[in-house]
Amino acid sequence: MCGIIARVGDGNATETLLSGLENLEYRGYDSAGIAVQNGSGVKVHKCSGDVSDLESTLDSRPSGNVGIGHTRWSTHGPPTDENAHPHTDTAGDVAVVHNGVIDNYDQLRTELQANGHVFESDTDTEVIPHLIDEYRETTGDTEQAVRRAVDTLEGSYAIAAIVDGEERIYAARKGSPLVLGVDDEEWFLASDVPAFLEYTDEVIYLEDGDLVVLEPDSYRLTDLEGNPIDRSVDTVDWDPKDAGKGEYDHYMKKEIHSQPTALSNTIEGRIDDGDVDFADLPPGAFADVESVQLVACGTSYHAAMYGGQLLRAAGIPATALRASEYESVAGPVDENTLVVAVTQSGETADTLEAVRTGSARGGRTLAVTNVVGSTAARETDEAIYIRAGPEVGVAATKTYSSQVVTLALLSQRIAADVPDATPADDRAAMLDALADLPRHVETVLETSRAETLAAETLESEAYVFVGNGFGHSVALEGALKFKEITYEHAEGFASGQLKHGPLALVTEETPLFAVCTGGDDEKTKTNAIEARSRGAPVVAVGPDDHPLCDVADAHLSVPETHPVWAGLLANVQLQLLSYYAAKLLERPIDKPRNLAKSVTVE
Ligand code: G6P
Repeated sequence: MCGIIARVGDGNATETLLSGLENLEYRGYDSAGIAVQNGSGVKVHKCSGDVSDLESTLDSRPSGNVGIGHTRWSTHGPPTDENAHPHTDTAGDVAVVHNGVIDNYDQLRTELQANGHVFESDTDTEVIPHLIDEYRETTGDTEQAVRRAVDTLEGSYAIAAIVDGEERIYAARKGSPLVLGVDDEEWFLASDVPAFLEYTDEVIYLEDGDLVVLEPDSYRLTDLEGNPIDRSVDTVDWDPKDAGKGEYDHYMKKEIHSQPTALSNTIEGRIDDGDVDFADLPPGAFADVESVQLVACGTSYHAAMYGGQLLRAAGIPATALRASEYESVAGPVDENTLVVAVTQSGETADTLEAVRTGSARGGRTLAVTNVVGSTAARETDEAIYIRAGPEVGVAATKTYSSQVVTLALLSQRIAADVPDATPADDRAAMLDALADLPRHVETVLETSRAETLAAETLESEAYVFVGNGFGHSVALEGALKFKEITYEHAEGFASGQLKHGPLALVTEETPLFAVCTGGDDEKTKTNAIEARSRGAPVVAVGPDDHPLCDVADAHLSVPETHPVWAGLLANVQLQLLSYYAAKLLERPIDKPRNLAKSVTVE
């Protein structure tokens, strides 16, 4: 939710701010803005729309070596020019960008207005520059003023501020991500690493309560009392070219096509002599686990369902829970409960809240995430990285596949550790087949008929996805992907449930995508027959020669493999189907309306 960037160094900051914002647009794209400081005042440029709209409003590149930028996903106030960040104090001397939600902004605004401060927007953020200005008056020192201002705020924030006449950036975080990029000649601050990855891969992940002051030749990190703190510098192993679109029209297509590489990275070094080896979690690390709760949102929840099924198959009580419902559905938790946060970004507010609740109730916590240093990775007892590389398209694709594989590996690691568990009988076959998975994904990408099928079914009224077992979670994910980027009505169901209501929706105008894995697909085949007899076009999504193909009108083929992986391959076909349907419908594929990739508000 919202992306922020800041940069100080020699030369003009504007280019860096704009390219950084483009790489952060997955966090929001309602409005965008920058502010630069060059010794002759703070200059703010902002507008509703995305970063390209902002660029088109700039006649020339505003000059200044110190600057901040923001791309917004609206919470308080509609996406207007006035509500775009940066926001300033009344005189325009202090400019601030903010990611998060200020809970006490109403009260602060009233107090500040009573002191003569004039507000121009509906946002919660605008109180921050006014507060800094107010405290500068009383303390005579900007750093102290920033410290007092953030101390006054309730809620969540990552902020960056610049002040007229100062060659500095002030920044602080609590509950929203902020990472410092360290280079020889310049410093960066951003919500996420891709914002500055083309300049540096050396980073410091800031923590809640950190305050940082950046100057052209130094940076200072303190806590809110002003005591110096030390944080280690990490090197990010993401490739800068991963942050761009490359030869592709859309990030989503690039990310779908990078799945063979992403999956190879996910697997690399983790299978040792027919066993699963997570370096930091050696054999025996899960011996005390009696049950597993997987908490997640959106696409990650569908990956969690997949992982939950594998754990149950190994005899370990496991449930995938929607993180937003955790409080009421979690049930008993104790020290033998492993609460796993499945979250690509590691920053989803509901998922973080669920795992905190699980921890407060005595559970052991683990993050399965893509982002090193993310809040989930830092707050949980342990973390396993899915190693998918940066994902920019709002619709999650490669991170889903890497999550599924990581969770499958985790399930076999836990099953090997827990005395009463029964690792998959055919674990060796399953892990062997995993080694071929990247190649099989490649085959799907090279041979898919999804583009043709998307065109043939484009005029439909609605789209129905069904599946059983692993196929169920894939059907839900297929429908989610389809609706989120095409804006068409799509629903996913467990095969056995179709006749309990949803069948009423099925007509000759509603194609039915039947996901088959080579596992227990009988019910799915029955669905296909029922739908077809009502005139619905049926598309089998699964292995060649599958009995379901006999009752289907069309087929999206996946290579023959272990049933555990067939679902993942079927999902790649459904990713392509959604992508091409959205493309034909001319939707903004990477930035679907109303959505953001990283939902950092509850
Ligand atoms: C948002 C995104 C989804 C994503 C979900 C969970 O809703 O639009 O694509 O699956 O958040 O994100 P996470 O980062 O926790 O995996």
